[in-house]
Amino acid sequence: MLRYEEVPIPAAGKDEVLVRVHAVGVNPGDWQIRSGLAGDRFRLPYIPGWDVSGVVASVGAGVTSFHPGDAVYGMTVNSGGCAEYVVVPAGNLALKPQSVDFVEAAALPQSGFTAWHALFVQGKLEKGQTVLINGAAGGVGHLAVQLARWKGARVIGAASARNEPYLFDLGINAFVDYTSILPAEIEQSVDIVLDTAGGEKVEWLLNTLKPGGRLVPITWGRYSSDNAAKASVTVQEIQYPQITTAYLDELTRLVNGGQLNITIDSVFPLEETAKAHEKSESRRARGKIVIRVL
Ligand SMILES: NC(=O)c1ccc[n+]([C@@H]2O[C@H](COP(=O)([O-])OP(=O)(O)OC[C@H]3O[C@@H](n4cnc5c(N)ncnc54)[C@H](OP(=O)(O)O)[C@@H]3O)[C@@H](O)[C@H]2O)c1
Repeated sequence: MLRYEEVPIPAAGKDEVLVRVHAVGVNPGDWQIRSGLAGDRFRLPYIPGWDVSGVVASVGAGVTSFHPGDAVYGMTVNSGGCAEYVVVPAGNLALKPQSVDFVEAAALPQSGFTAWHALFVQGKLEKGQTVLINGAAGGVGHLAVQLARWKGARVIGAASARNEPYLFDLGINAFVDYTSILPAEIEQSVDIVLDTAGGEKVEWLLNTLKPGGRLVPITWGRYSSDNAAKASVTVQEIQYPQITTAYLDELTRLVNGGQLNITIDSVFPLEETAKAHEKSESRRARGKIVIRVL
């Protein structure tokens, strides 16, 4: 259960920054941790929220890259973002993109970085290749669609039918309704699959890959290793790499340049964090859910 209450303001230690939080991005990990699905390594009292944007209130010893008053965004190392103040390592922050407000900036770090890492580091996606993004309208998916298009890839977006017009507006080249039969022309036509949806019913994704293709999952899905071997495709391991200022700066550049747009599904006040979690748990968000603190 979530409770809204007063706690002391934390202090920035060495190489850390105290951020006056303006907005917090919501990720499925927030309610997965809260409901115990992420195991017992998170102890009470626990403040949710990893993705934050805000203004630097003070800096700890050794921090030279940020100054009080800077507008920043980034990701905490141990949650705590759903608060007026949070401490973040300087290496997990960057200057906020000037072209977006604090709500949009808070939506970006974890989802943008996850999409980037899955497509370009794990998937090694190259210009001219075809990528299928399952869950293309979600927090990670809608950013992955745009990053893949920016790279020069052909993008097939998979979602339910209500998201088809939205995804074509976002730049996909072809659409697959994951509730219908897979169109024959999609079979064995894809170099890389990014699966953001996972679950029990994702076996069909293996049929979309060319021999030698790679499936990159960012969440658990039931893919048969026998069928993957028969189709000569690989299913990669889920990875959760550490965000850095350099990655955030790449995302900032694309946002400021207009190549990466952030869709905001809904915004909730801090007191209604529980409602924001409920919305995320519905798995129906189009783009990102954000909590406004200031
Ligand atoms: N957010 C992150 O930064 C992050 C990082 C690492 C891992 N992950 C994991 O990755 C997963 C996705 O995260 P997210 O933030 O993108 O989630 P999300 O925003 O909650 O995803 C919502 C989207 O999922 C789609 N969806 C739901 N069921 C689907 C299905 N069976 N097949 C295809 N699409 C489906 C929905 O589209 P329709 O309404 O059209 O069905 C909706 O647009 C989560 O399990 C999360 O724990 C997320």
